[in-house]
Amino acid sequence: MTMQWKTRITELLGCEYPLLQGALSRFGYWKFVAAVCETGAHGCLTAAVSRTPERLRNDIRKCREATDKPFSVNISIGNCPHEDKMLDVILDEGIDVVETAVFNADAHGKRIKDAGRKWVHKTATVKHALHAQDQGADAVIIVGLEGIGYKNIHQLPTMVTAVEAARQIRIPLVIAGGLGDARGMLAVLATGADGVMMGTRFMATEECPVPARYKHNMIELSVNDPRLRHRVLAEPDPAEYEEVMKLRDQLPLDRWLPRLEKVMLKDEDWREAYRMWEAPAKYLGTLVSMAVGVIHDIPTCQELVRRIVTEAEALARKHPYPSDLST
Ligand SMILES: Cc1cc2nc3c(=O)[nH]c(=O)nc-3n(C[C@H](O)[C@H](O)[C@H](O)COP(=O)(O)O)c2cc1C
Repeated sequence: MTMQWKTRITELLGCEYPLLQGALSRFGYWKFVAAVCETGAHGCLTAAVSRTPERLRNDIRKCREATDKPFSVNISIGNCPHEDKMLDVILDEGIDVVETAVFNADAHGKRIKDAGRKWVHKTATVKHALHAQDQGADAVIIVGLEGIGYKNIHQLPTMVTAVEAARQIRIPLVIAGGLGDARGMLAVLATGADGVMMGTRFMATEECPVPARYKHNMIELSVNDPRLRHRVLAEPDPAEYEEVMKLRDQLPLDRWLPRLEKVMLKDEDWREAYRMWEAPAKYLGTLVSMAVGVIHDIPTCQELVRRIVTEAEALARKHPYPSDLST
């Protein structure tokens, strides 16, 4: 018995498995993304990593040379330098699926749709995903509380989010947040979601350009570590959030972002956050999710995806779903 992996999301993205690699600022380079695509999962290039539109064009081309599989490109609203010009390049280079994230992306979504491309928007709440659906998004990704990324004060745990989203969202739905193995993936698919996204788990692969010692830190880091629990699970302070948002148009992006990260990623203090931005490797511990609970090794992307798929197929044989997930 082999698993029927085709879902609305594999159809939309043109990948073999409903498993998506999350955009990774600082680390989402083309070589790594191409390696993910080659596994049958879906790879996503992070525009912010390229820093300039010219370099993004170059990185898209290099990624294309490295894999003939489709990949998407992520623009994180408010976090990506030269957002509009980055989108010009993405559309000009013929990228079929554009992922937006972080803040409201209605204007970008419209441009993507007007260009005849597919728009996938990533949010932290079902409410914002419903908004993107109303705006014409082709798919939404919702990251639950256990995940990493900018937190929303109304964010709910991943499984609660998945169940609620599967009830309400009509377009293809992807769930993320603390997921890193076959069990998590199957659990989310069983809610009716069409796919799963993993960010932290893909960081602990051979190809991801994270320094080796920090990949090892991910293996060492306990999911019960109180600092990790606080950082990932505690909601951001609404007053601090208001305060930092007021500064958005008053500071250059590279000075404002660390302040936002201090609030949304809950680093110890503002100076810490500045240093994290300048020397990300040193502060990597601040950039992982509860998915560290299932990270015990550093496989290649190929080994990781194969393992997840094989284990999921074995689990599905053991506990067949009442739906047509297995054949
Ligand atoms: C180091 C790091 C950098 C990230 N950068 C981005 C980013 O630039 N844009 C974005 O949309 N998401 C970003 N994310 C979030 C991931 O794409 C994904 O939504 C998240 O990792 C899912 O949660 P998980 O880590 O528990 O799998 C980042 C995550 C990590 C760990």
